[in-house]
Amino acid sequence: MKWKVALSDLNFDHRERKIVNQVIRDRWLTMGEMVKKLEKNFANFLKVKHTFAVSSGTAALHLALRASNIKIEDEVLVPSLSFVASSNAIIYVGAKPVFLDITSLSDLNLSCDDLEKKITRKTKAIMVVHYGGYLANMERIKKIAKKHDLSVIEDAAHAIGAKFESKMAGGIGDIGCFSFFSNKNMATGEGGMIVTNQNKLAEKIRLLRSHGMTSMTLDRHEGHAYSYDVTELGYNYRMSEINAALGIEQLKKLKSSNRKRKTLIKTYVEDLKEPKGFSIPFLNYPRDSAFHLFPILLDKDVDREKFMKFLKREKIQTSIHYPPIHRFSYYRKNVGASRDELPLTEYVGRHEVTLPLHPLLKKEDILFVCDRIRKILPRVRR
Ligand SMILES: Cc1ncc(COP(=O)(O)O)c(C=O)c1O
Repeated sequence: MKWKVALSDLNFDHRERKIVNQVIRDRWLTMGEMVKKLEKNFANFLKVKHTFAVSSGTAALHLALRASNIKIEDEVLVPSLSFVASSNAIIYVGAKPVFLDITSLSDLNLSCDDLEKKITRKTKAIMVVHYGGYLANMERIKKIAKKHDLSVIEDAAHAIGAKFESKMAGGIGDIGCFSFFSNKNMATGEGGMIVTNQNKLAEKIRLLRSHGMTSMTLDRHEGHAYSYDVTELGYNYRMSEINAALGIEQLKKLKSSNRKRKTLIKTYVEDLKEPKGFSIPFLNYPRDSAFHLFPILLDKDVDREKFMKFLKREKIQTSIHYPPIHRFSYYRKNVGASRDELPLTEYVGRHEVTLPLHPLLKKEDILFVCDRIRKILPRVRR
């Protein structure tokens, strides 16, 4: 499908082409100088002590749970309104995801009241997701975690560059996880980053990322090491040099592309003032955002399927963030999640639509989408 206005797009140009060519010329394809540089630049950007480039955001989440020593019988609190990877990673380590509702229809992040209610003797960690790039209430989450001695893992896949006072998303909890999947604010195709300020966690992550081995191929290539021991059951979650090279250029563009996203959202909000038929979450939100998504919530009497179909006919791509995780067949069958009652999450799961947002869009594109929405809305009321 050739979209007139795509949901997301790659912000690539000659700089990405040049640096990828450099990797090919340099003839070293994994965990080399590009990975080192990306990790260093990311650490400076986020103001965190340790950064590890990994093969995906999901790998980062898995490593975060392993490094935090989460295991069978443990419970991890996680919002159901997220991408399924947030809770799949909890199941990878044998623990049980306990799903949280969202705060309200204007704040789609996890509810701290629900969080406090669901802590048991088995709870070991909170997986915080910064929905759409909007920071969750980390002050309150950290207080609760401290009181109950819980690890805080931030799934900051949407939130690269979001800030709370001087702290950046992903650098506020014990461990932060990022995704560089193709549709993210920083895209390398596949890829991610795991970050922490704690030396002990960092040491574990370093080992787990590469099979638990005590030395790397590059160390041996450069003559720093001849052999290695294996001290943990680790994985191959390493990042390639090509992905890291793309990441280096993407990180340079991040601040300006997040600013562009913010401007585009402002255009949407101003132009969509008039038509009734939906609400816009996170308006006047007190914390900062990386503006990853632009979600709207259709009113109950608007037929979402027809609405999305009409926009598709106009070659405007939309999506849903998210079908709630606890309603998926696998989760109902294996996690017993069908009994969870998460009324606000389920409401959003039924009525949310995500509109196009990426830094290559122009003001005219947004105005075109708004115009079509105004035309379509009266025709899709039930
Ligand atoms: C909230 C969230 N968490 C985790 C992930 C997983 O990241 P990846 O696709 O890089 O494995 C994603 C990516 O889509 C995501 O949106």
